[in-house]
This record gives sequence, structure tokens and C-alpha cells, in this order.
Amino acid sequence: MTTHSPRVFSGMQPTGNLTLGNYLGALVNFVALQEREEFERLYCVVDLHAITTAQEPAALARATREVAAAYIASGLDPKRSIIFNQSRVSAHAELGWIFTCVARMGWLNRMTQFKEKAGKHKENASVGLFSYPTLMAADILAYRATHVPVGEDQKQHLELTRDIAAKFNNDFNVPDFFPLPEPLIQPDTARIMSLRDGKNKMSKSDPSDMSRINLTDDADLIAQKIRKAKTDPEPLPSEPDGLAERPEAQNLIGIFAALSGVSVTEVLAEYGGQGFGAFKPALADLTVAKIAPIGDEMRRLMETPDEIDAVLADGAERAAALARPILREIYDTLGLIGGGSA
Ligand code: AMP
Ligand code: TRP
Repeated sequence: MTTHSPRVFSGMQPTGNLTLGNYLGALVNFVALQEREEFERLYCVVDLHAITTAQEPAALARATREVAAAYIASGLDPKRSIIFNQSRVSAHAELGWIFTCVARMGWLNRMTQFKEKAGKHKENASVGLFSYPTLMAADILAYRATHVPVGEDQKQHLELTRDIAAKFNNDFNVPDFFPLPEPLIQPDTARIMSLRDGKNKMSKSDPSDMSRINLTDDADLIAQKIRKAKTDPEPLPSEPDGLAERPEAQNLIGIFAALSGVSVTEVLAEYGGQGFGAFKPALADLTVAKIAPIGDEMRRLMETPDEIDAVLADGAERAAALARPILREIYDTLGLIGGGSA
């Protein structure tokens, strides 16, 4: 059995403002992996995934640069990590098609994210929205990536990626051709919840802007959103057990712990017994201190889009060089004579 060299791949969609959920659930992890020398790292802005729902072209182009700016502003170094946008490397679309022929209708029918996103209008959803996870599998496996840092909501898509990899290896009798990639999910920050309802995920698509902290919110707006965050009337507990059945309190304490790099137990040791009146100002100060500088840096970068474009172009070239020989092998394995442009 060959062993695949450790390679990290992850992506984010350029479909609106990135939130504190994207930051704590994924970006912090992307940056932490930079310190792990054993990994090669690719971080993609998945613009082809964005068009599974309608996008205004100018807004899509801007959002693509903005996600790249968020990557850089959060601490990703374009020299140490490959940063690029998906549509620039044709291997994604090519392998995506091949995987739509490997994945089974039944597998995709079980995907909860499609059901959520398509809602009541399933018949009107794009075919791309339905087959979205096959393109995600292509993103990862075009590089034979072994590790994928994501939030909890992507776990099912990663399982599908593994199923596709295993079926391909098996159907074409090429054992270990693709690795079975592992999700890297940080349990404490895997699901950051809405500030208006502790039972719903914080999401860039929530109609209420008060439900989320956007990475581009300024200090005043961040503080205001934390001040107005939904809570309950009880004082904070002294132990984590006391947070059960208190989703809003649990979420705010979890955010504090993640942003300050200490455990929930330690946060409660300090704030247990106090009301939200004492805790919220401390959380607001901390969130402003950590997030506002990222927004400032993103704005600075967005003023020089040429610099961002240069990072994306360079990243795409390096990514394509990694994907090209793998794709060549895939076409050969399938009997597709001379296939592929990448
Ligand atoms: P998306 O914005 O859907 O492209 O998501 C990009 C990444 O952020 C994925 O790894 C998601 O799992 C992660 N993510 C999005 N929202 C949250 C959240 N509220 N809590 C934790 N992770 C999240
Ligand atoms: N589906 C992911 C999301 O919505 C984005 C994504 C696309 C991705 N391709 C990926 C994440 C590959 C990790 C690896 O968040």
C-alpha cells in the first residue's frame, strides 16, 4: 500500500460576507495548520460552487477577491500556503464531471445541505446544487489531499468524498489510488451559533444581519451586535455542565473561549455567578480586538485588487502543477484517450 503525502485542502464559497463562524470554525484552523511543516496546504476560493445558486457576476468577482483577502488578513501566508480560486484550475471541473459519474443518485439524495438549500423549491434548484458534493470531492482528490479542515456542517460531504474515493479505487481496481481524506473538525468551534437564536448556525445567508458578526463589521457594529445578542435571565454557571439547555449562553461562552484561547472551564471560573451585564462588555472588547483588525486589513487589501489577483494567479499555477500529473493518471485509468487540458 502506498502512503499519500500529507496534504491539506479546504475551501470557502464567495457568496457574501464571511462571518465569525467561518473564522472560528475554519479559518483559525487553516492558519494553525501553517505551523505544521509536514503538510502541504491548498486553500481555495470555490467560485464554481458559488454559481450553484444565482450570482450577480460583478458581486461574485468581488466576493472572490474578498475571501482571498480574508484568508490573507487572517494570517495565511501565500508563500507557505497555496491560495487560489477554483475556476482558474480546470482540473476541478474536469474531475467534477468524472465524479458525477462515480457518485450514485442515492448517495446525493441523502445530503442534508441540498435539502436545506433547495427548500420547498427542489424542482427549481440547479442540477449543480444537487451534485455540489461531487465537485467538492474533486477539489480535494484532484490533489490527493489527505486532510480537510472544515466546520461540522461539512462532515457529511467529507463522508461522500471518501465514498467516491473508495468506489473509484475499487471500480477501476486501483487500490489506494486516492487517499480517503480525513476531516479536521475542531470540536469546540465546529458550530458557532446565531446571535439571535442559539439553536441555529451563524450563517452568512441569515436574513438578519444582527444574527452574525461579519469579518468586515467595524468595532462599533461588533460591540452593538454582542450587546444585543439574545441571552437568558440566569447568571452564568460556574461549571460547563450548567450550560446544558442554555444554547445562547453556551454559544457566547464558547466564542469567548475560542477567541481568547482558553477553555470554557476557565472562562466560567472567571465569570460564573455573574450576569450577562458583566460578561457581554468583556466579550465585546475581546471580539473587537480580534476581529476588527482583520476587517481593517481586508479593506486595505481590497483597495489593491491587483495584489490579490497576483496571489490568486500564482496560487493557481502552483495548484495546477500539482493536479496535472494526477489528472493525467485518472484519464489513463478510465481509458479516456488523451483526455484533459490541465
Ligand atoms: P461556507 O461559508 O459555507 O463556504 O463555509 C466555509 C467554512 O466555514 C466551512 O468549513 C464551514 O463548515 C465553516 N462554517 C461556516 N459557518 C460556520 C459556523 N457557524 N460555525 C462553524 N463553522 C462554520
Ligand atoms: N462545501 C464547502 C462549504 O460550503 C466549501 C468547499 C468546497 C470545500 N470545496 C471544498 C471545503 C473542499 C473543503 C474542501 O463550506
